[in-house]
Amino acid sequence: MPTHSVEDYLERMYNLINEKGYARVSDIADALEIQPPSVTHMLQRLDEEGYVEYEKYRGVTLTEKGEAVGRDIAERHRDLTTLLELLGVEDDELIFRDVEGIEHYLSPESMERIRALVDFAREHPGWWDEFRAGRSVSGKDASSPDA
Ligand code: CO
Repeated sequence: MPTHSVEDYLERMYNLINEKGYARVSDIADALEIQPPSVTHMLQRLDEEGYVEYEKYRGVTLTEKGEAVGRDIAERHRDLTTLLELLGVEDDELIFRDVEGIEHYLSPESMERIRALVDFAREHPGWWDEFRAGRSVSGKDASSPDA
C-alpha cells in the first residue's frame, strides 16, 4: 500500500491528466500547495517505485499501476464528498479537508457500503429529505421553534 503522500500525488496527477491532458511539475506543486523542488524529488521516487514515468524537462505520466491508485483515491474523494454533502455538511473547505483525511483510511469493504448508501439516497430523495429535515447539525429537532 502506498503512503498517504504518495496517494495524494497520484490523486492530483490523475485529476490533472483527466482535466488538462497532462500534469506538469508546476501544476502538481500548485495543487498540493508545495514547492516545485519537492515535487521533482517525489516524482523521482515515484518513478523508482513504478508509479510514474518521469524525465526531467520532459514531463511526467502515470504508469498503469500509478493510474490505478490515482483513480481509486479520486473516486473515493468524489464519493466521500457526496456523502458529506448528503449528510448536510455545507462548508466546502471543511468537506475537502475531511475527505482528504479519510479517503486514505477506509477499507474497501467500508467504502463499498458507503457507496451503496450514497446510491440508495440518490434513488430515494424523499427518504433522505426526511432524514435531513428531522435532524439539524447540532442534533436538535430542526422542526422545533428555536432550532
Ligand atoms: Co482527495
